[in-house]
Parts: sequence; structure tokens; C-alpha cells
Amino acid sequence: METPLELPLELIQVLRSARSVAALTGAGISAESGIPTFREAQTGLWSRYRPEELATPAAFEKNPRLVWEWYAWRREIVSRALPNPGHLALAEMEEHLPQFTLITQNVDGLHQRAGSGKKAALIELHGNIQRTKCYEENRVVERWQETPDPPPRCPHCGGPLRPDVVWFGEALPWDALEAAQAAAANCEVFFSIGTSALVEPAASLPLIARRSGACVVEINPQSTPLTRLATYFLPHPAGVVLPALISRVWGGVD
Ligand code: APR
Repeated sequence: METPLELPLELIQVLRSARSVAALTGAGISAESGIPTFREAQTGLWSRYRPEELATPAAFEKNPRLVWEWYAWRREIVSRALPNPGHLALAEMEEHLPQFTLITQNVDGLHQRAGSGKKAALIELHGNIQRTKCYEENRVVERWQETPDPPPRCPHCGGPLRPDVVWFGEALPWDALEAAQAAAANCEVFFSIGTSALVEPAASLPLIARRSGACVVEINPQSTPLTRLATYFLPHPAGVVLPALISRVWGGVD
């Protein structure tokens, strides 16, 4: 039997009376689904590859096949993964709140598969690995001819296809970023879950919330540059803390 989680009573009370909550998630929330995070030394994807070799427009132009095949491998990992209790708890949280915005840096689509976004806003800051777009026209492509020499070509213009994700050096979709910044500026509680809080502009979202007077809650087994600025730091895995929070706040458990 695990030791009961210590959840700050004041946080429970704030959430019970909250009308507007926002949550930012990073690779850590998908770690318990078996998807390696980017920066964990022993398992992080980046430890095996140098980011500039794979996730940049220059890398794609230099070696489109390598980049396409790396994403095909990641799509394979993601398609085998299942949402974990952390994803499911966030999907349930939106049922309990008048206003909830989920902002994710993840491209794995596990929040959608957990049921998030049905009643509330789900903002994909860095795109979605399951979507593919034309590198030339920058528009989503649903169907294409497979080729023995990847990447496949756009059926409209013949240009190379690429994953619909934001690469290093590329701008985030401005409408997604604007919506995320507005949600951060207008919420009473802002969760930062499973993110190293290093990559801008996502890393500034909890600071926008804090400046607007929100209660900032960080959920991460390790501390990050955000930790000292957070109202509450819950040093546990998201898959443990979030279900416990849901049952304490809305489960009738006093
Ligand atoms: N629960 C909560 N947090 C966890 C868990 C867990 N079970 N396991 C690991 N973490 C934490 C780690 O401690 C780390 O701080 O998740 C964080 C993952 O950090 P990163 O690997 O840097 O991932 P992320 O913050 O999402 O990266 C941001 O950088 O590489 C770019 O575009 C990419 O979206 C990505 C962005």
C-alpha cells in the first residue's frame, strides 16, 4: 500500500471553488505510457540523436529520408502507447470545471485519445505527429502514395511530405499560442505538468498565469526552473498525483 499522498488542503479548496483552470503538459505526462521524454539522460530521444540532426527544417532539407523515418518510428511507438491515469484524470477534470483549457507541448495525441477536448479547449502548441503536411504548401495531407524512397510526395504539388509538428527554429501556430496565452492570463489555477519548463514560448505560460494572480501548481518528480516560482510543487509522477487530486477535490472524499 503506497503512503497516502500529501495534497495541500488549500489547493483542494481552491480547486473546489475554481471556475477557470488551465494545464500545460510536456513529455513527462506521456512517460508513464512508455513514450521516452526528450531530455531524460538514459531514455530521452534526444540522448540518442542530436536535435539539429532531426527536428529542424535544415535537417529535413539535408536528409529528408532520415527525418521522415525517425518520425515514422515515433508514430509507431505512439500508436502502441495508451493514455495513462494522468491523461485520463485531465480528461475527467474538464468535466468538473466551468472553464478548463488543456495546452500540450506533446505531439503524441494521447490527450485526445484519453477524451480531452470534448467539452473544453485542447491546444496543441507543437502540432501532432499523427498529422502530415506538404513541406512546400504547408497544408495538411490526408492520403498519399507510399514510396520505396521516403518521404512520400504531396499529391497536389509533388513536394515532400513532413510531419505536422513544430520544429526547432519554426514559429508556433500563432492562433494556438494566442489562445494558450489568453488561457494562462485568465485562469485561477495553472498546472505545469511533466515539462522541464525550458523551451519557450511554452515555458512563459506559467509565468503569465502567476503574474495574473493565478495559483501555479507544478507536477514533476524533479524540480525545474519553474519550481521556485510555483505556489505548489508536487514532486510525484503525474499518473499518481492527478487521479489523487481528482478524487480528493471532486470525489466526495473529504
Ligand atoms: N510525471 C510528471 N513529470 C515527469 C514524469 C512523470 N511520470 N516523468 C518525467 N517527468 C518530467 C521530467 O522530470 C522532465 O522535467 O517530465 C519532464 C520532461 O521534460 P522534457 O523531456 O524536456 O520534455 P518537455 O518539457 O515536454 O520538452 C519541451 O522541447 O524538445 C522540445 O518540442 C519538444 O515539446 C518538447 C519541448
